[in-house]
Amino acid sequence: MRRQIKNNVSWVGYLDWELETFHGDDYSIYNGSSQNAYLIEEEKTVLIDTIWTPHRFDFVENLQKEIDLSKIDFIVANHGECDHSGSLTALMEKIPNTPIYCTAQAVKSIEGQYGKRGWDFHVVKTGDSIDIGNGKKLIFIEMRMLHWPDSMATFLTGDNILFSMDAFGQHYAVEELFNDKADPCVLRKEALKYFVNILNPFAALLSKKLQELESMSLPIEMIAPSHGAIWREDPLQIVRQYAEWADAYQENQITIAYDTMWEGTAKIAHGIAEEIQRQSPDTVVKVFNIAKADKNEVMTEVFKSKAIAVGSPTVCNSYLSSVAGWLEFLKQLKFRNKKAAAFGCYGWSGESVKLLQAKLAEAGFTVTESSVRSLWNPTEEDYASIATMVEELLR
Ligand code: FEO
Repeated sequence: MRRQIKNNVSWVGYLDWELETFHGDDYSIYNGSSQNAYLIEEEKTVLIDTIWTPHRFDFVENLQKEIDLSKIDFIVANHGECDHSGSLTALMEKIPNTPIYCTAQAVKSIEGQYGKRGWDFHVVKTGDSIDIGNGKKLIFIEMRMLHWPDSMATFLTGDNILFSMDAFGQHYAVEELFNDKADPCVLRKEALKYFVNILNPFAALLSKKLQELESMSLPIEMIAPSHGAIWREDPLQIVRQYAEWADAYQENQITIAYDTMWEGTAKIAHGIAEEIQRQSPDTVVKVFNIAKADKNEVMTEVFKSKAIAVGSPTVCNSYLSSVAGWLEFLKQLKFRNKKAAAFGCYGWSGESVKLLQAKLAEAGFTVTESSVRSLWNPTEEDYASIATMVEELLR
């Protein structure tokens, strides 16, 4: 069912309260999500994006209850990923000649996924615009690599709505649609988790894009992303927040992440946590067992941290496989401006700490000279090493 968001603009998306994971199982979801599509009805009728493939028939059925589909003058596809383009196949069966406005890269990604179907693509670039009547127009803004090569945003003049695609979104189902109706704590947490796990690898590009957006002086009054709450109240708050997050963000926090076999490495982890509290009571400390904790939530805490400590016992001349996968994800997220230290127990060969240090350096962290490497279980001497390592992390 359509919901008016402003004047002649309606939300026609899908609130997905049951979604548990996204990007396969790579992103955990605890507060539902939404795929937001929008309908603009001025002299021209425009559909901005669609919804995910599994819901494509419902999408078309619901849309044709609201409008005669043949009245849609054109579709804007801001992004080719299937959570937004996935209903095009069902929709275009009904209106096969309807023009689709998108970037050149989106033509490639849409045709790559659904095949060449002879759709009438119109390629647009930053600054291109199209009149939709009643004195309003749509201005297109390429958002290359935020987070796909094909990503784009669309600005509706007059109503001054920025359809920002994935940027500024959250995996968060808000039945009332708007940020001022959402739980502010959950909204911030989900917006941050989304930023860290989806956009942080492209933070440098994002900073430049935010500057470009600012230079366009668009009088933004509402930001309508493709997931989660629509930013109606103080919409620029999320732009300001993104600028801060994209600039090598850190808080006074240290995150400790480890896995353990017979609790020796866990003891070091908790020893580090206590030592941080002793040396710096104002520093927030978070401790996670990598094998048990949700990796997306842990990475969000890593993002907030000024330093991390990562631990694993040595097993088969390496670290635990749980830690190996976690380190790979850590590297992908391209964190900046953070220190890291390594720790772990061993029984005989004891390679894990050196290997962890190498991986942390590869992931872009400044690795401390000191580490904690404990034979079997931590001793008094090892606790002294913990103090030295914590001093270096806090320095
Ligand atoms: Fe929500 Fe990149 O798709």
